[in-house]
Amino acid sequence: MRTQVAIIGAGPSGLLLGQLLAKHGIDNVILERQTGEYVLGRIRAGVIEKGAADLLDEAGCGARMHREGLIHDGIEISFGGARHRINFKNLIGKSVIVYGQTEITRDLMDGRAAIGAQTIYEAEDVSLHDIGTDRPKVRYSKDGQTHEIECDFIAGCDGFHGVSRKSIPAEVLKTFERVYPFGWLGILVDKPPVSDELIYANHERGFALCSMRSPTRSRLYIQCRLDDKVEDWSDEAFYEELKRRLDDEAIKRLQPGPSIEKSIAPLRSFVAEPMRHGRLFLAGDAAHIVPPTGAKGLNLAASDVYYLWQALVEYYKRQSPAGINAYSARALSRVWKAERFSWWMTSQLHRFPESSGFDQKIQRSELEYLVSSQAAMTALAENYVGLPY
Ligand code: APR
Ligand code: PHB
Repeated sequence: MRTQVAIIGAGPSGLLLGQLLAKHGIDNVILERQTGEYVLGRIRAGVIEKGAADLLDEAGCGARMHREGLIHDGIEISFGGARHRINFKNLIGKSVIVYGQTEITRDLMDGRAAIGAQTIYEAEDVSLHDIGTDRPKVRYSKDGQTHEIECDFIAGCDGFHGVSRKSIPAEVLKTFERVYPFGWLGILVDKPPVSDELIYANHERGFALCSMRSPTRSRLYIQCRLDDKVEDWSDEAFYEELKRRLDDEAIKRLQPGPSIEKSIAPLRSFVAEPMRHGRLFLAGDAAHIVPPTGAKGLNLAASDVYYLWQALVEYYKRQSPAGINAYSARALSRVWKAERFSWWMTSQLHRFPESSGFDQKIQRSELEYLVSSQAAMTALAENYVGLPY
């Protein structure tokens, strides 16, 4: 088989890139290790920046997001028993859309099916070859047979555990990492949200977040220990702990219900550089991970895809390699700013096991400064709604 761009991974990065390229007449094939249902079963964050929303529109897949997504003009930060609103709309005139990543993935899959572009699910043993030449190849097996795709470029959109990043020689790739000493225990529940906007809570017992998927579905998180097991957290124990970390008004409005999903996620910051090697480009979680505080994961995947899509259009339509040569530096410049913001949000809102009395006083004074300073709130708002592409 031959295609122009072979895309590894049918997560949000791969699907969005595939859709944008196809819309501009650039042929592509997606190879995905799992089944489509499996990919849709993964629950992830649900806050969409304006830039990512615009890109989904550009890909022709934004209609349901605009119909069903919730526009949020701000967030609330809770500490010391009180809540403080950060009003994005007033501060910088922008908002975000709350719409589950699973739904975005579904919309992109439907969009891909509608244009008849090819996705090969359950592709096993995917391997990358000749990425240093202008005729790279991807091999995979399916139903016991080995196949090969010849292409011009490979887009490694296969997430943190994918094969693409590992195909870049170790002496070329530099990685930067911070692993946080706690996780997030999250539940999904069919009960209305505690508040109209997201509540990010800093409490001496640990962080908590009240988020939502719709007016009738809540997504709730509490900071937990890294060695906690989901099985050891009953729904009752979860709500008890969540209530301890919320303000009185939120506790009153919290409607406990049976969880329909419950999972623990570790928190990590990670960046791999460069994001291009020869004819291979990395995009999304394949190149970087952010802790979920600030919900930047999907949004960063979208900005990578934006730069890569532009670069490939420039290559094919204007015969210019300038965009592909600049891809890694352009993407990384925005990646690091989002890494900084996610690290900062995480640092300000969580309880770190090793923190001293001094550290805790500094953290509290940082939060007090934040909610009393127009400049500090503007900085948060600007980063939360997303820095420009
Ligand atoms: N071969 C083929 N496919 C693979 C391989 C492989 N060796 N390894 C991984 N994949 C697939 C995974 O099964 C997954 O469907 O690549 C896809 C990667 O998707 P994501 O992990 O969702 O990564 P990405 O598309 O970059 O999305 C970034 O979505 O996943 C969230 O937290 C993430 O919010 C961030 C955003
Ligand atoms: C979520 O709704 O899952 C969510 C929202 C905001 C975050 C992280 C997760 O910062």
